Amino acid sequence: MTDQPLFEARNITKTFGPVRALNDVSLTLFPGEVHSIIGENGAGKSTLMNIVCGRLRPTEGQLFVNGAEVQFHSPLEAQTHGIAIAPQEINLVPHLSVAENILLGAQRGRAAAIDWKATVRDATHYLHEVDNSIDPRARVTSLSKAQQQLVQIARAAATQARIIIFDEPTAMLTYRETEMLMDYIRRITAEGRSAFYISHRLDEVRDLSHRITALRDGVHVGCIGPEEATREKMVTMMAGRPAKVGGHSLRDMSDRPTVLEVRNLSRDHEFEDVSFDLREGEILGVSGLIGSGRTELAKCLFGATRARSGAVRLDGKDVAFHAPIDAIQAGLIYLPEERKQEGIFPLLSIAENTALPTIDRFGGLLTIRNREMMEEVGKLAAQLKAKFNSLRDPITSLSGGNQQKFIIARWLMRDARVLIMDEPTRGIDVNAKLEIQTVLRRLTEERGLSIILISSEMEELLDVADRILVMHEGELKGIVDRRDATQEGLLELAMS
Ligand SMILES: Nc1ncnc2c1ncn2[C@@H]1O[C@H](COP(=O)(O)OP(=O)(O)OP(=O)(O)O)[C@@H](O)[C@H]1O
Ligand SMILES: [Mg+2]
Repeated sequence: MTDQPLFEARNITKTFGPVRALNDVSLTLFPGEVHSIIGENGAGKSTLMNIVCGRLRPTEGQLFVNGAEVQFHSPLEAQTHGIAIAPQEINLVPHLSVAENILLGAQRGRAAAIDWKATVRDATHYLHEVDNSIDPRARVTSLSKAQQQLVQIARAAATQARIIIFDEPTAMLTYRETEMLMDYIRRITAEGRSAFYISHRLDEVRDLSHRITALRDGVHVGCIGPEEATREKMVTMMAGRPAKVGGHSLRDMSDRPTVLEVRNLSRDHEFEDVSFDLREGEILGVSGLIGSGRTELAKCLFGATRARSGAVRLDGKDVAFHAPIDAIQAGLIYLPEERKQEGIFPLLSIAENTALPTIDRFGGLLTIRNREMMEEVGKLAAQLKAKFNSLRDPITSLSGGNQQKFIIARWLMRDARVLIMDEPTRGIDVNAKLEIQTVLRRLTEERGLSIILISSEMEELLDVADRILVMHEGELKGIVDRRDATQEGLLELAMS
């Protein structure tokens, strides 16, 4: 690495009204380097990267490219200096094709003179460097969220940026795609491009980075090399105190009554002949790679789609939900995996977003008993250690991980028999994840709530689930008791 940084941010401060998201932060990036930014939810990682890529302007401070000061008024200006971002939230045009999305803003030629053939050829090239299973002609809406995330990466790469920012690229990815992405980043940095990398998965950060910078409450707390970067060290930098240890006690649930019975459930092209029991107070983990049919199964149980055949019994009674509202009334709730499209109401406040499905309890929308609602939301927010300024602020002012905490809180406010959670702790920092697990365990113990927990993070399932169900390409491959489960064993089952 040379002495001259390719990029430098000097003394960056960013305020949003009374919130100081960044306070005097400086950092550099060298050619061929992967520089990771770690920090708890709301620490300021995305804000910093949004300043680097021209989506936000700093309140104070300076940016330099190759030693010369630059000011970006838009992402396009940052692009002309070779900087592009693959953002944390999905930000694609849904009704356009993958190729069109990749080359929006990077087309060959201008407006009327766009060479579409060359455009599609180029898009395919960039896309297939990241993942060669995605069809460039497919519409974005037909892709999974993970695939959409990969398209965003190809879009950043297609600008021929020398600096690519990856803001939690792996939050939606499972094991195999994550490995592919790591290879990709190593390849492009070996060719001399550089990357800023954000992730809550600390082993990834350690394996990939040349340097790791930690932010805490908007302040730069240190920068270390990978040799120093133990999990303990990183968590201590992020949290200001040593790491808590995960792993809840093993429980034997075999004598508990069955709450949900699923028998030979099938749905064309999604899953085939799935049978399992969920017991009262149990946490049943669901593991599997992308395309394993986990989300499809959850949506079908929730009444969002109809099964072709099979039976579902809730508390011993046959049920056939025609719509999610039937499921919710029967006490079965599904928390979807993608918050922006399926989870949040961007125009409403944090409190309203959280209390909406239970609003009748507070007197309905027009006569709402605000204090009560605020109190209850506030209590849950504290339990989940959410970071916010006021519950009356719009939900969109929260960091990605904190939005997710309020979505979880929303469903915890409602009494349910069965809660199906699809990747609930995606994008949530290590310590907050443990808090959420503790809250979930408490609910199973105090309220007898039964939880189906879909997660791509095997560690999480091994920490908190009582049993783990493994799916692969629409088939149930097995159900393993946690005491017998290992990461290798689960992977083997998932890929067999
Ligand atoms: N548009 C905004 N208006 C008000 N506050 C904001 C806005 N954007 C960010 N913030 C605040 O700035 C702080 C930093 O947020 P940021 O999104 O940078 O966190 P982060 O480190 O990326 O967290 P996460 O891991 O959850 O993605 C948070 O307290 C957030 O609420
Ligand atoms: Mg963020």
